[in-house]
Amino acid sequence: MEDQLKIIGVVSVATLSMIVLRKIVHRLALSRAKHPSLTGHSKMAKRVARMLPGYAYDEAYFFASDNAPADIIQHRRAGLGKLAQLYATRFPKSLAMTVEAAENISDLQFTSHYRVPYQYSAYLRGQLKTASFIAATDGVTMTDLDGNVFYDLTGSYGVNVFGLNFYKTCIAEGSARVAEIGPVLGVYHPCVLSNVKKICEISGMEEVSFHMSGTEAVMQAVRLARYHTKKNHLVRFCGAYHGWWEDVQPGIGNPVAPRDTYTLKEMHDDTLHVLRTRRDIACVLVNPLQALHPNKNAPGDSSLVDSARQAGFNRAAYSAWLESLREVCSARGIVLIFDEVFVGFRLGVGGAQEYFGVKADMVTYGKTLGGGFPVGVVCGKREWMRRFTPARPADICFARGTFNSHPYVMAAMQVFLERLETSDIKKIYADCETVWNSRAELLNSQLQSLGLPIVIANMSSIWTVSYTRASRYNWMFQYYLRAEGLALSWVGTGRFIFSLNYSDADFAEVCSRFINAAHKMQADGWWWQDATLTNKAIKRSILKEMLSIKFGLRHG
Ligand SMILES: Cc1ncc(COP(=O)(O)O)c(C=O)c1O
Repeated sequence: MEDQLKIIGVVSVATLSMIVLRKIVHRLALSRAKHPSLTGHSKMAKRVARMLPGYAYDEAYFFASDNAPADIIQHRRAGLGKLAQLYATRFPKSLAMTVEAAENISDLQFTSHYRVPYQYSAYLRGQLKTASFIAATDGVTMTDLDGNVFYDLTGSYGVNVFGLNFYKTCIAEGSARVAEIGPVLGVYHPCVLSNVKKICEISGMEEVSFHMSGTEAVMQAVRLARYHTKKNHLVRFCGAYHGWWEDVQPGIGNPVAPRDTYTLKEMHDDTLHVLRTRRDIACVLVNPLQALHPNKNAPGDSSLVDSARQAGFNRAAYSAWLESLREVCSARGIVLIFDEVFVGFRLGVGGAQEYFGVKADMVTYGKTLGGGFPVGVVCGKREWMRRFTPARPADICFARGTFNSHPYVMAAMQVFLERLETSDIKKIYADCETVWNSRAELLNSQLQSLGLPIVIANMSSIWTVSYTRASRYNWMFQYYLRAEGLALSWVGTGRFIFSLNYSDADFAEVCSRFINAAHKMQADGWWWQDATLTNKAIKRSILKEMLSIKFGLRHG
């Protein structure tokens, strides 16, 4: 008896040790699959963010933070003065309304504070404000309240794929189709059936659900994956944006501590190993836009403290990555979700699935698919989309939304989907890859031959600007671009989104304005550099400055 107890004891200890060891091995594998940057460590990033001291450069340091010589500082002062004068005389009505509205629009306050690195923001806002009101749009241009015409590089956050006039038509024609029923909810207009059939055909999926935004579509896709797999964790990739819902935005910006989300390295074997070996993963979320800058946050000028921002797109490598994800997800019963809210209908009619040649289990769409109205769509194979289990009637996966399938949205979507079948749009899709790659090459070769310190990386019509010479002032470029009549979103030069109706002549005009802006920025001394000014030196000096403010050795 005693011997038996001893054996049981030994076996229990051995089993327990095995379990603990297994846990340690899995935990280490998980750590290895995290990207070494702070973006890859949500908890740590939040902790570091909490410690970041708030401070602002005064007038003198604003111009001299890189220790430029006096004559350069003088050029910069004069340059900013000229810009401020130009903004004040050219945009008076648009600016006055923006200032008045910002009092009561939280979003405007937020975006106006975060257009540039925060140390420079307060002084700059006092000199240069950015207008947020417009009066009209046409073709590829927008007209502000003062009658200034801008080329639109904002792409309306990605909604605008075919030009704003296209969406005006979708909205007008669609609204006429459903005018008889008005905004009734809970029952469908027949256009819903035609939309569902077309979306199933385009996505290669079997079922569809409609929501009010891309964020909601992603929430529902993840909820369904958790419901069917009976597992909790979702895997998202470092830097990828999937809307602002808690679980897909686990780091800075979300007051709740990360839970049930693994943020892993994209395009890396360590991640595949985790997917192969863990048993708690319900789904993998992929935002194919990340192919332009894997493992990095969406590039915004508010974090452009030096010239380290880089991007580059390798279609073959990203296709191979998606194939390996597909393989491991199929083998492990993990739901592979392509979040095509941004890239869907931009890279081609079949979106990322077609473009990269890999099928997902579920796809989310949004933005442009609403024909100009707000929308989110989930499509998936039947086995993943069902929201109930007949054998266990109380085991349901709930999803509602008062405005889902709103008749006006559905009708604009119907017009949008019909138009995709026209020869004009088919031609645009057939050419768009070549057209936008050659336009990026053209601008890059002009920039290079003029010796301007800028380079463009693009994924089709989605562009990002990088800077080739170390500088603390690259974010100033967005103000020179606006002065030349180029409209940018609040992230500045981090993201240009072209609509596919840009003609060669429109594009040539954008290039010429872009180059003018760069020449002026250069002449005003913002890109001055000497041998000591490297990206590393800039980072080090900012860190030093933060630490001295934090520990009271210096005041902001
Ligand atoms: C890939 C992706 N997913 C989800 C979202 C969220 O969509 P929405 O802003 O409509 O909530 C976005 C928005 O930019 C997105 O780019």
